Amino acid sequence: MLEAQLARLAADAARLRAKHLRDLIAEPGRAARYTHRAGPLLIDFSRQRIDDAALETLGAIAEASRWDDARDAMFRGDIVNASEKRPALHTALRASESRLPILAPRNVFAEIGTTLERMGALVEAVHTSTDGGFDLARGITDVVNVGIGGSDLGPRLAVEALRHSATGHVRCHFLPNVDGHRTADLMRTLDAKKTLVLLVSKSFTTQETLLNGSVLRKWLGNAYGGDRAAADRHLVAVSANVEGARAFGIPAARVLPMWDFVGGRYSVWSAVGLVVALSIGMPAFRAFLRGAALMDDHFRTAPWRENLPVLLALTGVWNRNALGPASECVVPYHDYLAELPSFLQQLEMESLGKQITPEGTRVAQRTVPVIWGNVGTNAQHAFFQALHQGTDVVPVELVGVVEPSHALGENHDALLANLLAQAAALALGKTFDEALAETTRGTDAERRALAAQRTFPGNRPSTTILLDALTPESLGALLALHEHKVFVQAVLWGVNAFDQWGVELGKTLAKAIEPVLTGEADATRLDASTRALIEAIRSRR
Ligand code: F6P
Repeated sequence: MLEAQLARLAADAARLRAKHLRDLIAEPGRAARYTHRAGPLLIDFSRQRIDDAALETLGAIAEASRWDDARDAMFRGDIVNASEKRPALHTALRASESRLPILAPRNVFAEIGTTLERMGALVEAVHTSTDGGFDLARGITDVVNVGIGGSDLGPRLAVEALRHSATGHVRCHFLPNVDGHRTADLMRTLDAKKTLVLLVSKSFTTQETLLNGSVLRKWLGNAYGGDRAAADRHLVAVSANVEGARAFGIPAARVLPMWDFVGGRYSVWSAVGLVVALSIGMPAFRAFLRGAALMDDHFRTAPWRENLPVLLALTGVWNRNALGPASECVVPYHDYLAELPSFLQQLEMESLGKQITPEGTRVAQRTVPVIWGNVGTNAQHAFFQALHQGTDVVPVELVGVVEPSHALGENHDALLANLLAQAAALALGKTFDEALAETTRGTDAERRALAAQRTFPGNRPSTTILLDALTPESLGALLALHEHKVFVQAVLWGVNAFDQWGVELGKTLAKAIEPVLTGEADATRLDASTRALIEAIRSRR
């Protein structure tokens, strides 16, 4: 953003600082004006510390950024990932379910269609215990998704969130980390001969995935008394590096492609979502794509004042750049959405955690806040104390589901009541006088001291997102909503949402440190603190 735009935001913020959310919420018609719907999703922004004039300022900044041209360029497949000279065509992955004309290049769309068909055939083969032309092992009861980052978080969230849509053919497990504890656990508890291992890695160079893949391949081999061919029939790869997967020993028939034009954290809609399709079946996976396509269509057509991803982006920019909080908390009121904060951490922080523009200059404003969170109501009994009374204000995104997928109405009403209560408490707070009126015991000084501690400042912003029900469609829409929010923020902040150079340095250092740790290389090239810790580890081995 430009200095002049930031100055306008600062002026609006100065006006808003003098207002309390109690007063803003009391304005006639505000709740209706600040609530919008797209398909199965409703968003209520009325508890953001923003007024119509500030929203107009943000809208004017968005319009000046030509966010809509940038959006169309992304859908068309222009090079929007400049540092890697690639398009970002995750929207093409679900374009088959869109009602609008497909903007993605024809060849890209055709390749995606073919891959979806192969995915469907593979799911069918596993579910019906047939070969399906994949030369697959039969009798699969368990699937292990070996992949990390985007090759784990989206698929894991979707499998967990859509447990009630699972066909029941297979149990799904996730193995992202290089930490051998989980790997060992899985090898101890699963029957190798009934397990399908999915090696999911866009690059097929990721240390964690390749190491776990090798360990599991040995485990499969042992189960077949060293018959490598039999063991390999339990392996399927998903990768943009088909050659790499082949070099690992997985024949082309069992490699499903993904592509350079899809970023890892945007890839759950591709064959990276194979574990999701194995869990819920291909028709439900298509419904998941349909939900995302519905949000794509909305994003492409709604004016900014009604455009959910744009409004979510703008209120995020408002909080970060006008009011200042450095973190944002996500609290899903649904146990099956427990992985949502982790998914959004990668989506938002890996996409927007940058300070340099594609032109190599420093951005003018702060970028992504720290994203964190946990499910409600658990979180209420852990960190909500700080959200209500801590010295820092943390904007909260509350996600609820109207219709549960169980018959325990009392539980669900209690859950939703808690969500609504927290949003209200954060916004309204409790004044000193209200707290004093409730404090009856003790001397006057004691009463006043206690009342001060029982005062809630309120004025703490939140956005509430309600899904009609947790279905493949609504989950697809929810994730696409956040993808597009991130895109709009990237346009406003002037950063590339589709690269992630910041993860490289640590990977390089780990490669240099490992041989020192194992005693195969000397430590002289490492810094003093690292050397000392390696010494401490080695002395206890
Ligand atoms: O290290 C970060 C990252 O590159 C993510 O962007 C990506 O989702 C993850 O690693 C896994 O990468 P891959 O799918 O290539 O194994």
